[in-house]
Amino acid sequence: MENKPPEQTLVLIKPDALKNSLTGYVLSLLSETHTGLRFAGAKIVHVHRMLAEQHYVEHRDRDFYAPLLDYIMGLAHYPDEPHKRRVIALVYSGPDAVQKIRDIVGPTNPHVAREKKPGCIRALGTIVTVHDAAGKVGERMDNLIHASAKPAEAEREIKLWFRPNDIPPAMRVYPVEASDAHYYFRDGRLLTTHEPGSLFLLAPGKVAWSSDLETLRLLARGQSAPCPLESVAAKYLINEQS
Ligand code: CDP
Ligand code: MG
Repeated sequence: MENKPPEQTLVLIKPDALKNSLTGYVLSLLSETHTGLRFAGAKIVHVHRMLAEQHYVEHRDRDFYAPLLDYIMGLAHYPDEPHKRRVIALVYSGPDAVQKIRDIVGPTNPHVAREKKPGCIRALGTIVTVHDAAGKVGERMDNLIHASAKPAEAEREIKLWFRPNDIPPAMRVYPVEASDAHYYFRDGRLLTTHEPGSLFLLAPGKVAWSSDLETLRLLARGQSAPCPLESVAAKYLINEQS
């Protein structure tokens, strides 16, 4: 009988949860005892703008996009303390992982969360008033946590935030393969030889998500690819000195 790989989901403990010292509480609610799910990956991430933009790409035309990027990058909660700008990125693995975690997380809007689902994580969040550069007033939902909404979204997000080697080999559920070329990134361009100032992505023999390698190979040949180069490169910027 063929064994189906377990479902996985991405969780981000956002900067407002770190600032309010809710990390331990959130981790307790998501613990294996409560959810039956296991950690497959965990890391502390200083979020680069490219990663933030790719993570929230579906919202790029919305009014709340710019404030949302400031929020996930930690700029909103730590304007003067760059060393505190972090999120905790986690991969949880197990049956029905996406929906189980979304249920504990609760509705997007913290006011709705308090009303409809007391006790959920986002019930502890808040809504803040924000002003854009032109002084236009808007709102941002500071809701403490991100969790993938659908299994397909989870796959895209896990591959965006994690390299295969961040996850124990036996817990990887998406195909991987070894690179057969060198790849570098510079100013939005893919390079196959090093140039000063370029970011190293992969060398021959380094394991990568197969879908990322497909994107890199197509782009290196000048063809169009199913995903933007930035969605591959962003994870290699995580915690690099900028
Ligand atoms: O996070 P979730 O999938 O529940 O919601 P979303 O609609 O994908 O929005 C992503 C994030 O943008 C939310 O978690 C909120 O932090 C923020 N947001 C906001 O600030 N204002 C809105 N009207 C909607 C979302
Ligand atoms: Mg969403």
